[in-house]
Amino acid sequence: MASVSHTDVIATITDQAVTEVDATQNEEQLEAVRVRYLGRKGLLTAQLKTIGDLPEAERRDFGATVNAAKSRLSRQFESRLLALQRVSRASALTSESVDVTLPGRRNDRGGIHPVTRTVRRINEIFHRIGFDVAEGPEIEDDFHNFGALNIPIDHPARAMHDTFYVDDDHVLRTHTSPVQIRYMKTHKPPLQVIAPGRVYRCDSDVTHTPMFHQVEGLVVGVDVSFADLKGVLTYFAQEFFETDLPLRFRPSYFPFTEPSAEVDIGCIFCKGTGCRVCQRTGWIEILGCGMVHPEVFRQVDIDNEAYTGYAFGLGIERVTMLRYGVDDLRLFFNNELTFLSQFR
Ligand code: PHE
Repeated sequence: MASVSHTDVIATITDQAVTEVDATQNEEQLEAVRVRYLGRKGLLTAQLKTIGDLPEAERRDFGATVNAAKSRLSRQFESRLLALQRVSRASALTSESVDVTLPGRRNDRGGIHPVTRTVRRINEIFHRIGFDVAEGPEIEDDFHNFGALNIPIDHPARAMHDTFYVDDDHVLRTHTSPVQIRYMKTHKPPLQVIAPGRVYRCDSDVTHTPMFHQVEGLVVGVDVSFADLKGVLTYFAQEFFETDLPLRFRPSYFPFTEPSAEVDIGCIFCKGTGCRVCQRTGWIEILGCGMVHPEVFRQVDIDNEAYTGYAFGLGIERVTMLRYGVDDLRLFFNNELTFLSQFR
């Protein structure tokens, strides 16, 4: 009878499938078996399609038989899948186990570079007394770096600067003073600003690196005097070095200030008695300064009858060395971690 043989076929297929399911060793094999029997073109699925060949009366029973076989097989797959997953998870746990006795990975802490620390500190000290902060380009044109600062083409002061030329009209700025010019062209007095940044000179030994940092200071207003300059620099030195250091103003020369001075502080190492660092003089130079030259005001269209001003330029590495007791300038730039990590 047709119906008996159909039911037998299904039982045989199902038994075969169960045997194969139980024999699988991993999830891929199991999936292959599932596709072969229960997939869209699988063996059991194909049986269901023969239902149309049966007499009307037998179809209902046959359908039920096939569906029962399918759910039996599905349950078998489910439980085999769980078993296989248990095994693979267990083996992963053993093979990927963590050896808690191994030394941990170190997490090195970074720090702020000493020059950056000093720049921030200087900005903060001047910010407290109302100074703005400005920046300018490191590649400057001849006009801003020299011409507008009263250093014409044939001026002997150019020789002091050991300039790196980019092309006929552009240089790597040799000081931060060009930012004075840029600032005065875009701001009307009264103004007070500092401008920290990198500067470049073709020079290299224990006390010189081809790139170093300066902070420029500029104040322009009515009745701004040399006494104001002295007061501000004295305030700065005391705040920066956190002691009552003596300041000494020595007459000097810069084309863009008149009168000009260089400022020394009492040696912080020997307190003025004379040591190696201050070359037995008891004094260490930290900056150049002076009253803004009338010619500079003329270049930026500021009325030098109505206004006066002062400017100063401070070597950042220099004061950083003094504050932290560093005796070789080059240490700041050769990226040695043993040195830098002391500034964390
Ligand atoms: N620009 C000068 C230098 O680099 C320093 C300076 C700045 C002097 C401002 C006077 C006024 O040597």
